[in-house]
Amino acid sequence: MALTVNALHPVFAAEATGIKIGANISPETVEEIENLMAVYAVLVLRDQNCTDEEQVAFAKFFGPRESPAGATTYGPQNANRLPMYMFDAGNIGLDGEILPLDNARRQMRLGDRLWHSDSSFNPLPTKWSMLSGRVIPPEGGNTDFADARAGYDSLPESMKQKLEGLVAEHSIWHSRVKGGMPAEMIGTAQTNILPPVYQPIVRTIPRSGRKSLMVGSHAGRIPGMPTDEGRKLLEELTDHVTQPKYIYSHVWKQGDLVMWDNRCTLHRATPFDDTKFKRDMRRTTCAEFAPSWAAVG
Ligand code: OGA
Ligand code: MN
Repeated sequence: MALTVNALHPVFAAEATGIKIGANISPETVEEIENLMAVYAVLVLRDQNCTDEEQVAFAKFFGPRESPAGATTYGPQNANRLPMYMFDAGNIGLDGEILPLDNARRQMRLGDRLWHSDSSFNPLPTKWSMLSGRVIPPEGGNTDFADARAGYDSLPESMKQKLEGLVAEHSIWHSRVKGGMPAEMIGTAQTNILPPVYQPIVRTIPRSGRKSLMVGSHAGRIPGMPTDEGRKLLEELTDHVTQPKYIYSHVWKQGDLVMWDNRCTLHRATPFDDTKFKRDMRRTTCAEFAPSWAAVG
Protein backbone atom coordinates (compact mmCIF):
# COMPACT_ATOMS: atom_id res chain seq x y z
CA MET A 1 0.00 0.00 0.00
CA ALA A 2 1.42 3.40 -0.95
CA LEU A 3 2.32 5.49 2.04
CA THR A 4 1.57 9.21 2.05
CA VAL A 5 2.67 11.72 4.65
CA ASN A 6 1.35 15.15 5.65
CA ALA A 7 3.22 17.30 8.14
CA LEU A 8 1.06 18.52 11.02
CA HIS A 9 3.41 21.10 12.51
CA PRO A 10 6.40 23.21 11.35
CA VAL A 11 9.06 21.28 13.35
CA PHE A 12 7.72 17.73 13.87
CA ALA A 13 4.61 15.48 13.82
CA ALA A 14 2.99 14.04 10.70
CA GLU A 15 -0.06 12.10 9.65
CA ALA A 16 0.54 9.02 7.50
CA THR A 17 -1.97 7.11 5.44
CA GLY A 18 -1.54 3.73 3.78
CA ILE A 19 -0.56 1.80 6.93
CA LYS A 20 -2.88 -0.66 8.62
CA ILE A 21 -1.35 -1.80 11.86
CA GLY A 22 -1.31 -5.44 12.91
CA ALA A 23 0.83 -8.56 12.77
CA ASN A 24 1.45 -8.38 9.01
CA ILE A 25 3.79 -5.49 8.44
CA SER A 26 6.45 -5.94 5.77
CA PRO A 27 10.12 -5.27 6.55
CA GLU A 28 9.94 -2.38 4.02
CA THR A 29 7.05 -0.78 5.90
CA VAL A 30 8.85 -1.23 9.23
CA GLU A 31 11.84 0.56 7.70
CA GLU A 32 9.63 3.35 6.32
CA ILE A 33 8.02 3.87 9.72
CA GLU A 34 11.44 3.95 11.40
CA ASN A 35 12.56 6.60 8.92
CA LEU A 36 9.40 8.68 9.36
CA MET A 37 9.71 8.51 13.13
CA ALA A 38 13.35 9.63 12.91
CA VAL A 39 12.19 12.76 11.09
CA TYR A 40 8.81 13.53 12.66
CA ALA A 41 9.00 11.86 16.12
CA VAL A 42 5.17 11.83 16.28
CA LEU A 43 3.14 9.90 13.73
CA VAL A 44 -0.65 9.89 13.54
CA LEU A 45 -2.39 6.94 11.88
CA ARG A 46 -6.12 7.55 11.45
CA ASP A 47 -8.98 5.05 11.15
CA GLN A 48 -7.07 2.12 12.61
CA ASN A 49 -9.87 0.86 14.87
CA CYS A 50 -7.43 -1.84 15.90
CA THR A 51 -7.90 -4.75 18.28
CA ASP A 52 -5.65 -5.22 21.32
CA GLU A 53 -3.97 -8.15 19.53
CA GLU A 54 -3.16 -6.01 16.47
CA GLN A 55 -1.78 -3.21 18.59
CA VAL A 56 0.37 -5.57 20.68
CA ALA A 57 1.67 -7.37 17.56
CA PHE A 58 2.46 -4.08 15.80
CA ALA A 59 4.58 -2.80 18.73
CA LYS A 60 6.91 -5.81 18.55
CA PHE A 61 8.23 -4.75 15.13
CA PHE A 62 9.96 -1.80 16.77
CA GLY A 63 11.49 -3.23 19.94
CA PRO A 64 10.90 -5.42 23.01
CA ARG A 65 7.58 -4.47 24.58
CA GLU A 66 7.25 -3.13 28.09
CA SER A 67 4.71 -4.35 30.63
CA PRO A 68 2.94 -2.03 33.08
CA ALA A 69 3.89 -2.38 36.74
CA GLY A 70 2.93 0.65 38.84
CA ALA A 71 -0.84 0.43 39.35
CA THR A 72 -0.91 -3.34 39.81
CA THR A 73 0.74 -2.95 43.24
CA TYR A 74 -2.55 -1.46 44.52
CA GLY A 75 -4.39 -4.77 44.75
CA PRO A 76 -6.95 -6.75 42.77
CA GLN A 77 -9.24 -3.79 42.05
CA ASN A 78 -6.35 -2.35 40.05
CA ALA A 79 -5.47 -5.50 38.14
CA ASN A 80 -4.78 -4.72 34.51
CA ARG A 81 -8.04 -5.16 32.56
CA LEU A 82 -6.00 -5.24 29.34
CA PRO A 83 -3.78 -8.00 27.87
CA MET A 84 -0.07 -8.27 28.59
CA TYR A 85 2.02 -5.46 27.13
CA MET A 86 -0.88 -3.00 27.20
CA PHE A 87 -0.97 0.06 29.43
CA ASP A 88 -4.36 1.37 30.42
CA ALA A 89 -4.40 5.15 29.96
CA GLY A 90 -8.17 5.42 30.24
CA ASN A 91 -10.57 6.01 33.13
CA ILE A 92 -12.51 2.76 33.03
CA GLY A 93 -12.46 0.07 35.75
CA LEU A 94 -12.69 -3.70 35.68
CA ASP A 95 -16.49 -3.36 35.83
CA GLY A 96 -16.55 -1.24 32.67
CA GLU A 97 -17.61 1.87 34.63
CA ILE A 98 -15.84 5.20 35.18
CA LEU A 99 -13.22 4.87 37.94
CA PRO A 100 -14.23 6.42 41.28
CA LEU A 101 -12.31 9.51 42.44
CA ASP A 102 -10.26 7.73 45.11
CA ASN A 103 -9.25 4.79 42.89
CA ALA A 104 -5.48 4.33 42.79
CA ARG A 105 -5.39 3.83 39.04
CA ARG A 106 -7.28 7.10 38.54
CA GLN A 107 -4.97 8.86 41.00
CA MET A 108 -2.01 7.57 39.03
CA ARG A 109 -3.39 8.87 35.72
CA LEU A 110 -3.51 12.44 37.09
CA GLY A 111 0.26 12.66 36.69
CA ASP A 112 -0.15 12.12 32.92
CA ARG A 113 -1.40 15.71 32.76
CA LEU A 114 2.14 16.91 33.42
CA TRP A 115 4.71 16.97 30.61
CA HIS A 116 6.55 13.64 30.61
CA SER A 117 8.37 10.99 28.64
CA ASP A 118 6.84 7.52 29.14
CA SER A 119 8.87 5.13 31.26
CA SER A 120 11.83 7.48 31.66
CA PHE A 121 11.68 6.05 35.21
CA ASN A 122 12.62 2.58 33.88
CA PRO A 123 16.27 1.55 33.86
CA LEU A 124 16.14 0.71 30.14
CA PRO A 125 15.82 3.45 27.57
CA THR A 126 12.28 3.47 26.28
CA LYS A 127 11.82 3.95 22.57
CA TRP A 128 8.28 4.56 21.34
CA SER A 129 4.74 4.61 22.68
CA MET A 130 1.68 3.82 20.58
CA LEU A 131 -1.65 5.00 21.95
CA SER A 132 -4.99 4.07 20.46
CA GLY A 133 -8.16 6.03 21.01
CA ARG A 134 -10.99 3.54 21.57
CA VAL A 135 -13.55 5.81 23.28
CA ILE A 136 -13.07 9.58 23.03
CA PRO A 137 -14.85 12.05 25.32
CA PRO A 138 -17.00 14.69 23.57
CA GLU A 139 -14.85 17.55 24.90
CA GLY A 140 -11.28 17.88 26.22
CA GLY A 141 -8.82 15.02 26.53
CA ASN A 142 -6.39 16.03 23.79
CA THR A 143 -2.81 14.82 23.97
CA ASP A 144 -0.16 17.52 23.63
CA PHE A 145 3.31 16.73 22.27
CA ALA A 146 6.49 18.83 22.37
CA ASP A 147 9.67 18.39 20.32
CA ALA A 148 12.64 18.04 22.69
CA ARG A 149 15.11 18.07 19.75
CA ALA A 150 13.93 21.54 18.72
CA GLY A 151 14.18 22.42 22.41
CA TYR A 152 17.77 21.22 22.58
CA ASP A 153 18.77 22.88 19.29
CA SER A 154 17.57 26.30 20.47
CA LEU A 155 19.42 26.26 23.83
CA PRO A 156 22.22 28.79 24.22
CA GLU A 157 25.67 27.27 23.65
CA SER A 158 26.61 27.88 27.30
CA MET A 159 23.63 25.78 28.46
CA LYS A 160 24.48 22.98 26.02
CA GLN A 161 27.96 22.86 27.53
CA LYS A 162 26.65 22.92 31.10
CA LEU A 163 24.37 19.94 30.37
CA GLU A 164 27.03 17.76 28.74
CA GLY A 165 27.57 14.73 31.00
CA LEU A 166 24.83 15.64 33.53
CA VAL A 167 22.33 12.99 34.58
CA ALA A 168 18.90 13.33 36.20
CA GLU A 169 17.12 11.11 38.68
CA HIS A 170 13.76 9.90 37.30
CA SER A 171 11.02 8.33 39.40
CA ILE A 172 7.37 7.69 38.62
CA TRP A 173 6.55 8.54 42.25
CA HIS A 174 8.02 11.98 41.86
CA SER A 175 5.59 12.78 39.03
CA ARG A 176 2.63 11.07 40.72
CA VAL A 177 2.94 13.30 43.82
CA LYS A 178 3.47 16.37 41.64
CA GLY A 179 0.36 15.39 39.66
CA GLY A 180 -1.82 15.30 42.80
CA MET A 181 -1.71 11.66 43.93
CA PRO A 182 -1.70 11.66 47.75
CA ALA A 183 1.85 10.91 48.98
CA GLU A 184 0.44 8.45 51.54
CA MET A 185 -0.75 6.23 48.66
CA ILE A 186 2.89 5.50 47.85
CA GLY A 187 4.40 2.81 50.05
CA THR A 188 7.35 0.44 49.91
CA ALA A 189 5.45 -1.99 47.63
CA GLN A 190 5.39 0.82 45.09
CA THR A 191 8.89 2.22 45.54
CA ASN A 192 10.40 -1.28 45.64
CA ILE A 193 8.91 -2.19 42.29
CA LEU A 194 9.90 1.09 40.62
CA PRO A 195 12.91 2.65 42.36
CA PRO A 196 14.56 5.81 40.96
CA VAL A 197 16.85 5.55 37.92
CA TYR A 198 19.44 7.85 36.35
CA GLN A 199 19.32 9.09 32.75
CA PRO A 200 21.59 11.45 30.84
CA ILE A 201 19.87 14.82 30.28
CA VAL A 202 21.17 15.10 26.72
CA ARG A 203 20.70 12.11 24.43
CA THR A 204 21.60 11.45 20.81
CA ILE A 205 18.84 9.58 19.01
CA PRO A 206 20.39 6.72 17.02
CA ARG A 207 18.72 6.93 13.61
CA SER A 208 18.45 10.70 13.23
CA GLY A 209 21.71 11.51 15.03
CA ARG A 210 19.90 14.49 16.59
CA LYS A 211 20.46 15.55 20.17
CA SER A 212 17.52 15.87 22.52
CA LEU A 213 16.61 16.82 26.09
CA MET A 214 15.46 14.04 28.40
CA VAL A 215 13.47 15.97 30.98
CA GLY A 216 9.80 16.10 32.08
CA SER A 217 7.95 15.43 35.31
CA HIS A 218 9.53 12.09 36.25
CA ALA A 219 12.90 13.87 36.54
CA GLY A 220 13.20 15.30 40.03
CA ARG A 221 16.87 15.69 40.98
CA ILE A 222 20.29 16.16 39.48
CA PRO A 223 22.83 14.16 41.47
CA GLY A 224 25.74 16.36 42.52
CA MET A 225 23.61 19.52 42.60
CA PRO A 226 21.63 20.92 45.54
CA THR A 227 18.07 19.52 45.25
CA ASP A 228 16.39 22.91 44.69
CA GLU A 229 18.92 23.99 42.09
CA GLY A 230 18.61 20.69 40.21
CA ARG A 231 14.82 20.80 40.27
CA LYS A 232 14.82 24.41 39.07
CA LEU A 233 17.12 23.56 36.16
CA LEU A 234 14.97 20.54 35.17
CA GLU A 235 11.83 22.69 35.30
CA GLU A 236 13.49 25.41 33.22
CA LEU A 237 14.48 22.85 30.59
CA THR A 238 10.98 21.34 30.52
CA ASP A 239 9.50 24.85 30.12
CA HIS A 240 11.93 25.53 27.31
CA VAL A 241 10.97 22.34 25.42
CA THR A 242 7.25 22.97 25.91
CA GLN A 243 7.07 26.49 24.51
CA PRO A 244 3.94 26.85 22.36
CA LYS A 245 6.00 26.93 19.15
CA TYR A 246 7.22 23.36 19.81
CA ILE A 247 3.79 21.90 20.66
CA TYR A 248 1.48 19.82 18.50
CA SER A 249 -1.87 19.18 20.18
CA HIS A 250 -3.60 16.03 19.01
CA VAL A 251 -7.39 16.18 18.89
CA TRP A 252 -8.47 12.55 19.05
CA LYS A 253 -10.88 10.84 16.71
CA GLN A 254 -12.05 7.36 17.57
CA GLY A 255 -9.84 4.82 15.79
CA ASP A 256 -6.67 6.96 15.82
CA LEU A 257 -3.35 5.42 16.70
CA VAL A 258 -0.66 7.94 17.62
CA MET A 259 2.95 6.86 17.98
CA TRP A 260 5.69 8.98 19.52
CA ASP A 261 9.37 8.74 20.27
CA ASN A 262 9.80 9.10 24.05
CA ARG A 263 13.51 9.75 23.62
CA CYS A 264 12.95 13.09 21.93
CA THR A 265 9.43 14.29 22.74
CA LEU A 266 7.44 15.14 25.85
CA HIS A 267 3.68 14.71 26.05
CA ARG A 268 0.78 15.32 28.39
CA ALA A 269 -2.91 14.50 28.59
CA THR A 270 -5.15 17.55 28.70
CA PRO A 271 -8.07 17.66 31.14
CA PHE A 272 -11.60 16.47 30.50
CA ASP A 273 -14.51 15.73 32.80
CA ASP A 274 -13.38 12.30 33.92
CA THR A 275 -16.29 11.94 36.36
CA LYS A 276 -18.80 12.26 33.53
CA PHE A 277 -17.23 10.89 30.35
CA LYS A 278 -15.49 7.63 29.51
CA ARG A 279 -12.13 7.84 27.81
CA ASP A 280 -10.69 4.49 26.74
CA MET A 281 -7.08 4.87 25.65
CA ARG A 282 -4.76 1.87 25.31
CA ARG A 283 -1.02 2.08 24.98
CA THR A 284 1.80 -0.20 23.92
CA THR A 285 5.37 0.89 24.54
CA CYS A 286 8.62 -0.61 23.33
CA ALA A 287 12.16 -0.31 24.61
CA GLU A 288 15.33 0.23 22.59
CA PHE A 289 16.73 -3.09 23.79
CA ALA A 290 16.17 -5.59 26.60
CA PRO A 291 18.47 -7.37 29.01
CA SER A 292 17.78 -11.07 29.45
CA TRP A 293 16.16 -10.64 32.89
CA ALA A 294 13.57 -7.99 32.06
CA ALA A 295 9.83 -8.67 31.92
CA VAL A 296 9.64 -7.68 28.29
CA GLY A 297 9.01 -9.77 25.22
C1 OGA B 1 0.17 7.78 28.12
C2 OGA B 1 -0.29 9.17 28.23
C3 OGA B 1 -1.87 10.73 27.42
C4 OGA B 1 -3.33 10.76 27.17
O1 OGA B 1 -0.62 6.90 27.76
O2 OGA B 1 1.35 7.57 28.36
O3 OGA B 1 0.42 10.00 28.72
O4 OGA B 1 -3.78 11.75 26.56
N1 OGA B 1 -1.45 9.43 27.69
O5 OGA B 1 -4.02 9.81 27.58
MN1 MN C 1 2.42 9.14 28.88
